[in-house]
Amino acid sequence: MSTNDDLLDHARQLDTADPLAHWRDEFVIDDPDLAYLDGNSLGMTPRRTVHRLHEVVNDEWAGGLISSWGHWLDLPMVIGDELAPLIGAVAGEVVVHDSTSVNLYQLLHIAVAVVEGCTTIVVPTGEFPTDRYLVDAVAETHNLNVSHAVDDAIAGRLGPVVVVMSLVDYRSAEVADMAAITAAVQNAGGTVIWDLSHAVGVLEVNLNRCSVDFAVGCTYKFLNGGPGAPGFSYMSTRALDATRNGPQQPIPGWFAQADQFRMDEPRRPRDDIGRLLIGTPGILGLTATRCGVELTATAGISAIAAKARAITDFVIEIADAHGLDVASPRDAQRRGGHVSIRHASAEQITADLAAAHSVLADYRDPDLIRLGCSPLTTRYVDVARAVNAIAALTA
Ligand SMILES: Cc1ncc(COP(=O)(O)O)c(C=O)c1O
Repeated sequence: MSTNDDLLDHARQLDTADPLAHWRDEFVIDDPDLAYLDGNSLGMTPRRTVHRLHEVVNDEWAGGLISSWGHWLDLPMVIGDELAPLIGAVAGEVVVHDSTSVNLYQLLHIAVAVVEGCTTIVVPTGEFPTDRYLVDAVAETHNLNVSHAVDDAIAGRLGPVVVVMSLVDYRSAEVADMAAITAAVQNAGGTVIWDLSHAVGVLEVNLNRCSVDFAVGCTYKFLNGGPGAPGFSYMSTRALDATRNGPQQPIPGWFAQADQFRMDEPRRPRDDIGRLLIGTPGILGLTATRCGVELTATAGISAIAAKARAITDFVIEIADAHGLDVASPRDAQRRGGHVSIRHASAEQITADLAAAHSVLADYRDPDLIRLGCSPLTTRYVDVARAVNAIAALTA
C-alpha cells in the first residue's frame, strides 16, 4: 500500500466484506461523514433505544404510573441476567445498578472482608483514576496498605491481598491475563476485582471459566447504554454463597433488603445478587442499557470480538505504513477495542482531527491519541481516514 487513496480503497473493500456492516443501520447517524472513534467512551445511540424510551415514558410511566413498579422492581436483576452471557457469567451473578465507581466501592468493602489476613489492596500505577481513588479511600477506612506492585501480588510476596485492575487498559488497550492473574492471587489466599469497563461488549470475557469472584464495568461504552447508564456488578455464585451471612456491602439501602416493603423489619439483606442494590433505580437508564445489551447479544459477542481484532489490526497496518508510533499491543489477542497512537502533540492533533477532518477521537494524558473501534458502528473507512489525517497533521 502506498498512497492514502490506496489505503482508502482497501478500507472500502474491507467494509464491503464486513459481516457486521449492516448493524450500523441500527444506530442514529446524524452525520454519515463523521468518523466517530470515541465509542469506547460513549457508544452511539441505538435506534431501538430511542423507540423504547418513548414507549417506556408514554406507556409505562405516563400510562402505567406507579403500577409499573410491578415489573420495574426486578429490572436490575433481569438485565443482569441478560448481560451475564456476554461476560461468561450465569443468571443470578450480575446486577445492573448505580455507577461503576459506586459498584467498585461496594465490592472492595466485601472483598477486603472476605480475604482472611488481608493487609494490602493492590492497584496498578496506571489504573483508571476512579479505581485508584477508591482503593485509597477503602484502604484508609479499613486501615490497609496500598501497593502498586501487581507482580509481587501475583508472586504471592504480599500475602493474601485484594487486587483491583482493568482487563483492558484504558490507555494502551493491553489485555491482562485474567486466568493467570486470578489463579495466582487466589493461590496466595487473595482475590481480584476485575474492572471490565473497556472489555464488556467488545471482547469475549469468561469470568466463570477464569474462576473470577468479583467484577464491575460500564455499560455506556461498547454496550451503547447511553450517557450515565448504570454500571454492573458481578459476584460469582461461590462468592455470593460465601457472603450470604458474612460481609455485606457498605451502602445497604432499602433495595438491598429481603422484605423491602415490610417497612418496620430490621435490616436483613437479600439472599441474591440484589443485595448489592442501594436505592430506587433509574428506569430510563436501565431501559437504554437493556437495548444496548440486547443489540450486542443479538449481533453476537464472538463476531464482535473478531471484528475488533480485525479493525484494530487494520489501524496498526495503516499507522505502520505512515511510520506512526503505535502504543498498543501488536498481538490482536492481547488488545482491546482501541488503538493508541503516541505523539508529543497528541492533544493538539486530537483537536485538529475534530476541527478540520471530521474525526472524533480522544486524547489521553500525556501523549496518546485513542482511536476507539466499536465493531457495530465503526467502518474501516473511518479508521483509514483518521490515521491518514493523523499522518498529514504530523508530517
Ligand atoms: C476503566 C474505568 N473504570 C471505571 C470508570 C468509571 O465509571 P463511572 O464514571 O461510570 O463510575 C470508567 C469510566 O470511564 C472507566 O473507564
